[in-house]
Amino acid sequence: MPDTIVLPQANALTARDIDPSLDLEAEIARLRRERNAIILAHYYQDGEIQDLADFVGDSLDLSRKAAATDADVIVFCGVRFMGEVAKILSPDKLVLIPDADAGCSLEDSCKPEPFRAFREAHPDHIAVTYINCSAEVKALSDVIVTSSNAETIIRQLPADRPILFAPDRHLGAFMRRKTGREMTLWPGSCIIHEQFSERELVKLKTQYPAAKIAAHPECPEPILVHADHVGSTRAILDYVLSSPADEFIIATEKHIIHQMEKAAPGKRFIPAPGADGSCDCARCPFMALNTMEKIYLALKNDAPRVEMPEELRIAAKAPLTRMLEMSVSIGRRDAA
Ligand code: 13P
Repeated sequence: MPDTIVLPQANALTARDIDPSLDLEAEIARLRRERNAIILAHYYQDGEIQDLADFVGDSLDLSRKAAATDADVIVFCGVRFMGEVAKILSPDKLVLIPDADAGCSLEDSCKPEPFRAFREAHPDHIAVTYINCSAEVKALSDVIVTSSNAETIIRQLPADRPILFAPDRHLGAFMRRKTGREMTLWPGSCIIHEQFSERELVKLKTQYPAAKIAAHPECPEPILVHADHVGSTRAILDYVLSSPADEFIIATEKHIIHQMEKAAPGKRFIPAPGADGSCDCARCPFMALNTMEKIYLALKNDAPRVEMPEELRIAAKAPLTRMLEMSVSIGRRDAA
């Protein structure tokens, strides 16, 4: 099946063409209005991009928003697979991503041909695939999940069928422990969540004994065993805001702390440490590729835009639609 294409534009404006005195925020607001565009951002984006966005959310909330919007243009500030999901669910919209190179280590760990072979080697298994994958891998899957609906969906699957879970082995192992289901895991992981250090986390906890630990299920088990709460980015945010505690250690990409500090300025949020004890490693280099300049240029150039062959889109849409149908019990968040 042919690849997804991210189209650049000939003669496009580049960062060098931007007048340094331009008020980028005001220009983006003007273009957004003129184009009837919506700016969607994941919690892992830089704070100024989150503040500019019309909607900030986790992967499930963003997918729902992309499917339901009446905007003509979607500017997706996240990573490439999220832009693909928007195009798959809203094919008539122009879907722009600020940087075509914003990939994902989980997506990179699971290429379509080895994944096809993995499926063929387990013909009786249901393929449950994390949304952090390419459109091609989605097209080869039975149902897509995010970190906020994986348990809900897995519990609805026929109990007598074994499961293949790809590409995140840590989320898969967490689901195996929670649901007791038999699962064969693809050996992928997220470079950000993989680097948290249990030793440094325990050290940090002795420094802040009252701090609650909130972790994303993409973290390895030795991190999760110390967590007071494990959940998607949205669930972590809800947890820290509703908890009576005042201090939290956050084991996921650190830019989500922006939302926490805005909503609960009196509380303290500490990024979980990596192996050298430093905190700056909880920063996704792919998410960081998006900038205000690139959002402005995307709206000026109508590029990079996500396109894909219709055959691929239809095949990838089926397991994504199944995901949305099987997640109706999970509350919708329409404003963020
Ligand atoms: P959620 O958005 O489901 O919390 O997952 C985070 C993530 O992996 C984004 O790439």
